Amino acid sequence: MTSAAEHEGLPEYASLLAARHAAHHRELREFMEEHWSGKDLAVLDVACGDGFYAATFDAVLGPRSRIAALDVSPAFLEWASACRWGSRSLSPRTQFVAAAAERLPFEEGSFDLVWCAQSLISLPEPLDCLREMVRVTRPGGTVAILENDRLHELQLPWPPELEIVLRTAERSAASDSASAEKPHAGRFLEAMMLDAGLRPAQRISIVIDRSPPLSVADEAFLQTYLHELSERVANDLTPKDRDELLRLATPSSPAYLPAQPSFWMTWTDVVVFGKREVGSVGE
Ligand SMILES: C[S@@+](CC[C@H](N)C(=O)[O-])C[C@H]1O[C@@H](n2cnc3c(N)ncnc32)[C@H](O)[C@@H]1O
Repeated sequence: MTSAAEHEGLPEYASLLAARHAAHHRELREFMEEHWSGKDLAVLDVACGDGFYAATFDAVLGPRSRIAALDVSPAFLEWASACRWGSRSLSPRTQFVAAAAERLPFEEGSFDLVWCAQSLISLPEPLDCLREMVRVTRPGGTVAILENDRLHELQLPWPPELEIVLRTAERSAASDSASAEKPHAGRFLEAMMLDAGLRPAQRISIVIDRSPPLSVADEAFLQTYLHELSERVANDLTPKDRDELLRLATPSSPAYLPAQPSFWMTWTDVVVFGKREVGSVGE
Protein backbone atom coordinates (compact mmCIF):
# COMPACT_ATOMS: atom_id res chain seq x y z
CA MET A 1 0.00 0.00 0.00
CA THR A 2 1.29 3.50 -0.75
CA SER A 3 1.17 6.02 2.10
CA ALA A 4 -1.04 9.11 2.23
CA ALA A 5 2.10 11.27 2.31
CA GLU A 6 3.01 10.06 -1.21
CA HIS A 7 -0.17 11.57 -2.66
CA GLU A 8 -0.78 15.29 -2.96
CA GLY A 9 -4.13 16.83 -2.14
CA LEU A 10 -5.31 14.34 0.48
CA PRO A 11 -6.89 15.78 3.64
CA GLU A 12 -5.16 15.36 7.01
CA TYR A 13 -7.58 12.63 8.11
CA ALA A 14 -6.41 10.35 5.26
CA SER A 15 -3.53 9.02 7.38
CA LEU A 16 -5.89 8.07 10.22
CA LEU A 17 -8.21 6.24 7.81
CA ALA A 18 -5.38 4.27 6.25
CA ALA A 19 -3.89 3.50 9.67
CA ARG A 20 -7.27 2.24 10.81
CA HIS A 21 -7.74 0.02 7.77
CA ALA A 22 -4.26 -1.42 8.24
CA ALA A 23 -4.97 -2.10 11.93
CA HIS A 24 -8.51 -3.49 11.56
CA HIS A 25 -8.42 -5.12 8.12
CA ARG A 26 -8.92 -8.65 9.50
CA GLU A 27 -12.10 -7.86 11.45
CA LEU A 28 -13.54 -5.67 8.70
CA ARG A 29 -12.89 -8.31 6.07
CA GLU A 30 -14.45 -11.00 8.30
CA PHE A 31 -17.55 -8.85 8.64
CA MET A 32 -17.79 -8.44 4.87
CA GLU A 33 -17.17 -12.13 4.23
CA GLU A 34 -19.87 -13.10 6.70
CA HIS A 35 -22.44 -11.01 4.85
CA TRP A 36 -21.43 -11.10 1.19
CA SER A 37 -18.89 -13.86 0.53
CA GLY A 38 -19.47 -15.50 -2.87
CA LYS A 39 -22.63 -13.47 -3.61
CA ASP A 40 -23.10 -12.04 -7.08
CA LEU A 41 -24.03 -8.43 -6.54
CA ALA A 42 -23.85 -5.03 -8.16
CA VAL A 43 -22.27 -2.88 -5.44
CA LEU A 44 -21.69 0.85 -5.19
CA ASP A 45 -19.15 2.11 -2.64
CA VAL A 46 -20.02 5.77 -2.05
CA ALA A 47 -17.08 8.00 -0.97
CA CYS A 48 -14.63 5.14 -1.36
CA GLY A 49 -11.62 7.02 0.05
CA ASP A 50 -8.49 4.85 -0.04
CA GLY A 51 -10.45 2.02 -1.68
CA PHE A 52 -10.12 -0.43 1.22
CA TYR A 53 -13.77 -1.53 1.11
CA ALA A 54 -13.97 -1.63 -2.71
CA ALA A 55 -10.88 -3.87 -2.73
CA THR A 56 -12.40 -6.08 -0.05
CA PHE A 57 -15.66 -6.39 -2.00
CA ASP A 58 -13.55 -7.22 -5.03
CA ALA A 59 -11.88 -10.00 -3.04
CA VAL A 60 -14.95 -11.55 -1.38
CA LEU A 61 -17.88 -11.20 -3.82
CA GLY A 62 -18.95 -13.85 -6.31
CA PRO A 63 -17.61 -14.03 -9.88
CA ARG A 64 -20.52 -12.23 -11.57
CA SER A 65 -20.36 -9.16 -9.33
CA ARG A 66 -19.46 -5.62 -10.32
CA ILE A 67 -18.24 -2.88 -8.03
CA ALA A 68 -18.34 0.88 -8.62
CA ALA A 69 -16.11 2.82 -6.23
CA LEU A 70 -17.10 6.48 -6.27
CA ASP A 71 -15.43 9.52 -4.77
CA VAL A 72 -15.43 13.25 -5.50
CA SER A 73 -11.72 13.63 -4.78
CA PRO A 74 -9.24 12.94 -7.61
CA ALA A 75 -6.50 12.60 -4.96
CA PHE A 76 -8.41 9.86 -3.12
CA LEU A 77 -9.26 8.08 -6.38
CA GLU A 78 -5.63 8.15 -7.46
CA TRP A 79 -4.57 6.83 -4.06
CA ALA A 80 -7.28 4.15 -4.07
CA SER A 81 -6.20 2.84 -7.44
CA ALA A 82 -2.55 2.75 -6.30
CA CYS A 83 -3.31 0.90 -3.03
CA ARG A 84 -2.84 -2.84 -2.95
CA TRP A 85 -5.09 -3.93 -0.10
CA GLY A 86 -4.45 -7.59 0.64
CA SER A 87 -1.41 -7.49 -1.72
CA ARG A 88 -3.60 -8.17 -4.69
CA SER A 89 -4.52 -6.07 -7.68
CA LEU A 90 -8.13 -5.15 -8.30
CA SER A 91 -9.96 -7.11 -10.95
CA PRO A 92 -11.50 -5.27 -13.94
CA ARG A 93 -14.95 -5.68 -12.39
CA THR A 94 -14.05 -2.86 -9.96
CA GLN A 95 -14.27 0.56 -11.56
CA PHE A 96 -13.47 3.92 -9.99
CA VAL A 97 -15.92 6.73 -10.66
CA ALA A 98 -15.22 10.44 -10.11
CA ALA A 99 -18.50 12.02 -9.02
CA ALA A 100 -20.27 13.69 -6.11
CA ALA A 101 -22.51 11.74 -3.78
CA GLU A 102 -25.15 14.46 -4.14
CA ARG A 103 -25.73 13.49 -7.79
CA LEU A 104 -24.87 9.86 -8.36
CA PRO A 105 -24.33 9.25 -12.09
CA PHE A 106 -26.40 6.05 -12.17
CA GLU A 107 -29.89 5.08 -13.19
CA GLU A 108 -32.54 4.48 -10.58
CA GLY A 109 -32.30 0.98 -9.06
CA SER A 110 -28.86 0.14 -10.53
CA PHE A 111 -27.38 -1.60 -7.47
CA ASP A 112 -28.21 -4.50 -5.16
CA LEU A 113 -26.09 -3.00 -2.40
CA VAL A 114 -24.97 0.57 -1.76
CA TRP A 115 -22.20 0.81 0.81
CA CYS A 116 -21.01 3.99 2.48
CA ALA A 117 -18.39 3.94 5.24
CA GLN A 118 -17.29 6.68 7.62
CA SER A 119 -18.29 9.37 5.20
CA LEU A 120 -21.48 11.02 6.45
CA ILE A 121 -19.21 13.38 8.40
CA SER A 122 -17.55 14.42 5.12
CA LEU A 123 -20.57 14.73 2.84
CA PRO A 124 -22.07 18.21 2.47
CA GLU A 125 -25.74 17.22 2.95
CA PRO A 126 -25.76 13.69 4.37
CA LEU A 127 -29.54 13.21 4.16
CA ASP A 128 -29.71 14.33 0.51
CA CYS A 129 -26.80 11.99 -0.27
CA LEU A 130 -28.57 9.14 1.51
CA ARG A 131 -31.68 9.79 -0.61
CA GLU A 132 -29.49 9.53 -3.70
CA MET A 133 -28.15 6.19 -2.42
CA VAL A 134 -31.74 4.99 -1.99
CA ARG A 135 -32.60 6.10 -5.53
CA VAL A 136 -29.84 4.01 -7.11
CA THR A 137 -30.62 0.94 -4.96
CA ARG A 138 -32.99 -1.55 -6.55
CA PRO A 139 -36.32 -2.16 -4.79
CA GLY A 140 -35.63 -4.91 -2.27
CA GLY A 141 -31.93 -3.96 -2.20
CA THR A 142 -29.86 -2.73 0.72
CA VAL A 143 -28.09 0.46 1.75
CA ALA A 144 -25.43 -0.38 4.34
CA ILE A 145 -23.84 2.47 6.28
CA LEU A 146 -20.80 2.07 8.52
CA GLU A 147 -20.25 4.89 10.99
CA ASN A 148 -18.87 5.68 14.42
CA ASP A 149 -19.83 7.80 17.35
CA ARG A 150 -16.97 9.93 18.57
CA LEU A 151 -18.24 9.77 22.16
CA HIS A 152 -17.47 6.07 22.42
CA GLU A 153 -15.78 4.89 19.22
CA LEU A 154 -12.53 4.19 21.09
CA GLN A 155 -12.54 3.07 24.71
CA LEU A 156 -9.20 3.33 26.49
CA PRO A 157 -8.25 2.88 30.15
CA TRP A 158 -8.25 6.65 30.84
CA PRO A 159 -8.76 7.76 34.44
CA PRO A 160 -12.58 8.13 34.45
CA GLU A 161 -12.53 11.83 35.45
CA LEU A 162 -10.18 12.65 32.57
CA GLU A 163 -12.33 10.72 30.13
CA ILE A 164 -15.38 12.77 31.08
CA VAL A 165 -13.36 15.98 30.66
CA LEU A 166 -12.11 14.84 27.23
CA ARG A 167 -15.58 13.92 25.98
CA THR A 168 -16.98 17.22 27.23
CA ALA A 169 -14.17 19.14 25.54
CA GLU A 170 -14.74 17.27 22.26
CA ARG A 171 -18.42 18.05 22.39
CA SER A 172 -17.77 21.67 23.20
CA ALA A 173 -15.19 22.00 20.38
CA ALA A 174 -17.65 20.49 17.87
CA SER A 175 -20.69 22.44 19.04
CA ASP A 176 -19.15 25.67 17.71
CA SER A 177 -19.70 24.39 14.17
CA ALA A 178 -22.87 23.97 12.10
CA SER A 179 -22.10 20.26 11.75
CA ALA A 180 -21.90 19.51 15.49
CA GLU A 181 -23.89 16.26 15.19
CA LYS A 182 -21.85 14.77 12.34
CA PRO A 183 -19.21 13.12 14.60
CA HIS A 184 -22.11 11.25 16.21
CA ALA A 185 -23.55 9.97 12.93
CA GLY A 186 -23.51 6.40 14.22
CA ARG A 187 -26.34 7.09 16.66
CA PHE A 188 -28.58 8.74 14.06
CA LEU A 189 -28.41 6.13 11.29
CA GLU A 190 -31.85 4.61 11.79
CA ALA A 191 -33.44 8.07 12.06
CA MET A 192 -31.70 9.21 8.88
CA MET A 193 -32.67 6.04 7.03
CA LEU A 194 -36.31 6.50 7.96
CA ASP A 195 -36.14 10.11 6.70
CA ALA A 196 -34.58 8.89 3.44
CA GLY A 197 -37.32 6.29 2.85
CA LEU A 198 -35.41 3.20 3.97
CA ARG A 199 -36.55 0.57 6.47
CA PRO A 200 -33.80 0.06 9.08
CA ALA A 201 -33.47 -3.73 9.05
CA GLN A 202 -30.42 -4.58 11.16
CA ARG A 203 -27.82 -2.89 13.39
CA ILE A 204 -24.47 -4.60 13.89
CA SER A 205 -21.59 -3.44 16.09
CA ILE A 206 -18.12 -4.47 14.99
CA VAL A 207 -16.17 -4.52 18.23
CA ILE A 208 -12.41 -4.73 17.94
CA ASP A 209 -10.45 -5.47 21.15
CA ARG A 210 -6.71 -5.15 21.52
CA SER A 211 -4.21 -5.77 24.33
CA PRO A 212 -0.40 -5.81 24.37
CA PRO A 213 1.64 -6.57 22.44
CA LEU A 214 0.14 -4.21 19.88
CA SER A 215 0.99 -4.68 16.22
CA VAL A 216 2.88 -1.96 14.38
CA ALA A 217 -0.39 -1.10 12.58
CA ASP A 218 -2.31 -0.84 15.89
CA GLU A 219 0.40 1.40 17.36
CA ALA A 220 0.37 3.64 14.30
CA PHE A 221 -3.42 3.93 14.38
CA LEU A 222 -3.45 4.70 18.10
CA GLN A 223 -0.71 7.32 17.86
CA THR A 224 -2.51 9.07 15.01
CA TYR A 225 -5.81 8.90 16.93
CA LEU A 226 -4.30 10.29 20.16
CA HIS A 227 -2.52 13.06 18.29
CA GLU A 228 -5.75 14.12 16.55
CA LEU A 229 -7.73 13.90 19.80
CA SER A 230 -5.17 16.10 21.57
CA GLU A 231 -5.38 18.69 18.78
CA ARG A 232 -9.19 18.71 18.84
CA VAL A 233 -9.54 19.27 22.57
CA ALA A 234 -6.40 21.30 23.42
CA ASN A 235 -8.15 24.68 23.51
CA ASP A 236 -11.02 23.44 25.66
CA LEU A 237 -8.96 21.93 28.52
CA THR A 238 -7.65 23.53 31.68
CA PRO A 239 -3.82 23.59 31.88
CA LYS A 240 -3.99 20.79 34.48
CA ASP A 241 -6.14 18.52 32.27
CA ARG A 242 -4.01 19.33 29.22
CA ASP A 243 -0.87 18.28 31.12
CA GLU A 244 -2.55 15.05 32.22
CA LEU A 245 -3.62 14.30 28.64
CA LEU A 246 -0.12 14.94 27.33
CA ARG A 247 1.37 12.76 30.07
CA LEU A 248 -0.84 9.82 29.05
CA ALA A 249 -1.01 10.36 25.28
CA THR A 250 2.54 11.37 24.32
CA PRO A 251 4.62 8.40 23.13
CA SER A 252 7.83 9.70 24.75
CA SER A 253 6.17 10.02 28.19
CA PRO A 254 6.91 7.23 30.73
CA ALA A 255 3.16 7.21 31.53
CA TYR A 256 2.12 6.79 27.84
CA LEU A 257 -1.02 4.65 28.18
CA PRO A 258 -0.37 2.21 25.31
CA ALA A 259 3.07 1.39 26.74
CA GLN A 260 1.61 0.15 30.04
CA PRO A 261 1.42 -3.65 30.47
CA SER A 262 -2.21 -3.30 31.66
CA PHE A 263 -3.23 -1.41 28.50
CA TRP A 264 -6.31 -2.38 26.46
CA MET A 265 -8.38 -0.71 23.75
CA THR A 266 -11.79 -1.34 22.22
CA TRP A 267 -12.84 0.22 18.94
CA THR A 268 -16.49 0.08 17.84
CA ASP A 269 -17.91 0.55 14.36
CA VAL A 270 -21.64 0.40 13.77
CA VAL A 271 -23.18 -0.82 10.55
CA VAL A 272 -26.88 -0.36 9.85
CA PHE A 273 -28.58 -2.16 6.96
CA GLY A 274 -31.52 -0.30 5.46
CA LYS A 275 -33.89 -1.98 3.04
CA ARG A 276 -35.39 -0.21 0.08
CA GLU A 277 -38.88 -1.57 0.18
CA VAL A 278 -40.61 -2.52 -3.04
CA GLY A 279 -42.99 0.33 -3.80
CA SER A 280 -40.89 3.02 -2.03
CA VAL A 281 -39.32 6.27 -3.28
CA GLY A 282 -39.96 7.20 -6.86
CA GLU A 283 -41.85 4.04 -7.83
C1 LIG B 1 -13.63 9.94 5.86
S1 LIG B 1 -13.38 9.50 4.19
C2 LIG B 1 -14.03 7.86 4.15
C3 LIG B 1 -13.54 7.08 3.00
C4 LIG B 1 -13.89 5.59 2.99
N1 LIG B 1 -15.30 5.36 2.80
C5 LIG B 1 -13.41 4.90 4.24
O1 LIG B 1 -14.21 4.39 5.01
O2 LIG B 1 -12.22 4.89 4.45
C6 LIG B 1 -14.57 10.47 3.40
C7 LIG B 1 -14.55 10.39 1.89
O3 LIG B 1 -15.64 11.15 1.39
C8 LIG B 1 -15.23 11.74 0.19
N2 LIG B 1 -16.17 12.82 -0.13
C9 LIG B 1 -16.30 14.02 0.50
N3 LIG B 1 -17.28 14.73 -0.06
C10 LIG B 1 -17.81 13.97 -1.05
C11 LIG B 1 -18.86 14.16 -1.98
N4 LIG B 1 -19.58 15.27 -1.98
N5 LIG B 1 -19.13 13.16 -2.85
C12 LIG B 1 -18.41 12.01 -2.85
N6 LIG B 1 -17.39 11.79 -2.00
C13 LIG B 1 -17.10 12.75 -1.10
C14 LIG B 1 -13.83 12.18 0.47
O4 LIG B 1 -13.11 12.47 -0.70
C15 LIG B 1 -13.30 10.96 1.23
O5 LIG B 1 -12.77 10.01 0.36
